[in-house]
Amino acid sequence: MSGSSLDGLDVAFCELTQENNTWNAKILHAETYSYNNSLIELLTSASSLDGINLMKLHREFGIYIGKIVNHFMDNCPETPDYIASHGHTIFHQPDKGITFQAGDGAYIAAETGITTISDFRSLDVALGGQGAPLVPIGDDFLFNEYDYCLNLGGIANVSFKENHKRIAFDICPVNIVLNMLAKQAGKKYDKDGNIAKNGQLIVPLLNELNELSFYKKSAPKSLGREWVESDFLPILNKYNGPVEDKMHTVVQHIAEQISKVTKSGVRKELFLTGGGTHNKFLVQQIRHITNHILIIPEDEIVDFKEALIFALLGVLRFRRETNCLASVTGARRDSTGGIIHRV
Ligand SMILES: Nc1ncnc2c1ncn2[C@@H]1O[C@H](COP(=O)(O)OP(=O)(O)O)[C@@H](O)[C@H]1O
Ligand SMILES: [Mg+2]
Repeated sequence: MSGSSLDGLDVAFCELTQENNTWNAKILHAETYSYNNSLIELLTSASSLDGINLMKLHREFGIYIGKIVNHFMDNCPETPDYIASHGHTIFHQPDKGITFQAGDGAYIAAETGITTISDFRSLDVALGGQGAPLVPIGDDFLFNEYDYCLNLGGIANVSFKENHKRIAFDICPVNIVLNMLAKQAGKKYDKDGNIAKNGQLIVPLLNELNELSFYKKSAPKSLGREWVESDFLPILNKYNGPVEDKMHTVVQHIAEQISKVTKSGVRKELFLTGGGTHNKFLVQQIRHITNHILIIPEDEIVDFKEALIFALLGVLRFRRETNCLASVTGARRDSTGGIIHRV
C-alpha cells in the first residue's frame, strides 16, 4: 500500500482465514519502507509527466515494489500465496472516469515470481463508481464492532453502518496537507503535532476551509491530490500567518469536519487508524470536539490496517467474491476488482 501522504510503502505479510462465514486476519510481519526525497518528488509531480514517461514510471515503480517485497520476504516465515498491491495513485478523477495507480502489477509479479493482483479501482470506476473507498468491505468483515472506522491517512475517511448498509466516504485532507506545511517548517511531518499545538487559530482561514463545497456534497464522494491542489491549497496560501498557525487551524478544521460527519452529540465509539493517529494534538482535538470514545488499536493495526485490507481484497478477488461495495462507491453494482498477474 502506498497512500497519498507519501511516507512510504507499507508491506504486510498477512494470514486470512474464514470460518462460519467470519473472516479472521492476522499480520505476521509488517514494515514501512520510507521513500527518499527524489522518489517523493517523482511521485508528487508524476501527474504532469508525458505519456511515455508516465508509462516508464508505472513500470519502474512496479519493479521497485517487487524488489522491496523480495527484501521484505527475507524476514517472512514463508512465501505468500500472492501479492495484493494498490500501487500509488497518480490520477483520481472518477467523475471523468479516470483513476490510475502507478506500480505495474505485471512487473511486481515478474520481479518476485509471485502471482500479483493490482489495479483494484478501475472496474468500479468503469461501473460509474468513485473507485473509492475500497477499505469499507474490510471494515465490515474485520472491524465491524465499532460505530465508526476512521482512517487518518493522507486523506481522512470514515465508514459506518446505517440501516444495515455500509456507508463510507472521504472526509477531508489530513497528512497530505499537514506534511506540506511541515515541509515549510523544514520537517518531513509534524511529530506528535508539536508544531500545530504551539500555533494560534486563524479564524477567517478556518471559516473559509469549512465552507469548501465538497463538504456540502452527499456521499458517495472521494478526494484526491488534485482536489487538494486545486481547491484546498489556494485558500491556505491566501493567508500569510506563521506555519504553526496554519497547521493549528488545519488540525482544528479536520477535527470539526470529523465531528460533523460522525454526528457528535450522541457518544459513539470511533476506531482510529492511519498515521494521523500518532499525531497527539490532532487526536486530542478530535476527542475534545467530537466527544466520542476513541479506540486506538495496537500500532501494527494503526499503521497497516489498509495493507491488511488490501490482502483481503486480493483473496476475495481470487475467490471471485465481491470486494467492492456499490453502496460506498456509487457504482451501478458491486464488483470484484483487480487484475491477476499469474506467474
Ligand atoms: N508521530 C507522528 N506524529 C504526527 N504525525 C505522524 C506521526 N507518525 C506518522 N504521522 C503522519 O502519518 C503519515 C502517514 O500516514 P499514513 O496512514 O501512512 O497515510 P497514507 O495512507 O496516506 O500513506 C505521515 O506522513 C505523517 O504525516
Ligand atoms: Mg502511508
